[in-house]
Amino acid sequence: MQVADSIESIRELRKNLSGTVGLVPTMGALHAGHLSLVEEARKDNDVVIVSIFVNPTQFAPNEDFSAYPRDLPSDLQKLRQAGVDVVFTPTPEMMYGTNYQTYVQVEGVSQGLEGEYRSGHFRGVATVVSKLFNLIQPDTAYFGQKDAQQVAVIRRMVRDLNFPLQIAVCPITRETDGLAMSSRNAYLTQEQREAASVLYRAIQKAGAAYERGERHPDILCQIALELLQSEPLAQIEYVSANDPKTLAARHDATEQPILLSMVVKFGKTRLLDNIILPLHLNNRAGLTETLGNN
Ligand code: PAF
Repeated sequence: MQVADSIESIRELRKNLSGTVGLVPTMGALHAGHLSLVEEARKDNDVVIVSIFVNPTQFAPNEDFSAYPRDLPSDLQKLRQAGVDVVFTPTPEMMYGTNYQTYVQVEGVSQGLEGEYRSGHFRGVATVVSKLFNLIQPDTAYFGQKDAQQVAVIRRMVRDLNFPLQIAVCPITRETDGLAMSSRNAYLTQEQREAASVLYRAIQKAGAAYERGERHPDILCQIALELLQSEPLAQIEYVSANDPKTLAARHDATEQPILLSMVVKFGKTRLLDNIILPLHLNNRAGLTETLGNN
């Protein structure tokens, strides 16, 4: 496994690569969710590149940029074991330098949901992901469905800016009690960690109602909301039903797929989770069928 720790070295390495290249962009603190993206990239491509970069431009001033977990030696060990070919580890100075002035702003799909709570977040994500695409020129880039709005923003950006690559969306990886894996789960106290399984229970309850025939998005949200409200430590930010591709809000009964998403805070930690209804769409083939390749 080669580690490229500068813009020059990743460009030089990329020039000498042949075959298809899969890119898994990450902010490090790698867990089984990231490794599932790497595994998919490994299956599909001749070469797998992982980037590790805690991107300052996607954190608002009140967010956890400096506290965000970082453990490069352990990340590199996991990636070596997973058969990754190249890891790109730039610094903020390399990516943004002095007098940096260029940003990518994706409009409609960046608004609402996370866009309402995290000002400037998707501008930072779209900017860094564009830079990674330009530097690495992957054939396919891999993202997790846990960040459903991020997926929608990146897919829109790829189409609008004609990036010559495919986006692969991979299912959410869960702990044994159903909690969606996230680097931020490390912030939870033991009590909060136990309580946090309520997100998955809420999703399951709404999912079961859907499978029994409930098709009204507001009722499905209400079912999830009531279960979340039963957990005293849960501070609910939103529960929402949207079109999984466009993120348009859904309020009318529909046979079209519904993205049911929620954000709940435990202490200062925001936890996201979502499910696409019907339930059988939540594997890689179902996500591709629902969202398309780009
Ligand atoms: O999902 C993440 O880890 C980040 O938002 C990403 C896509 C690596 C961009 O910094």
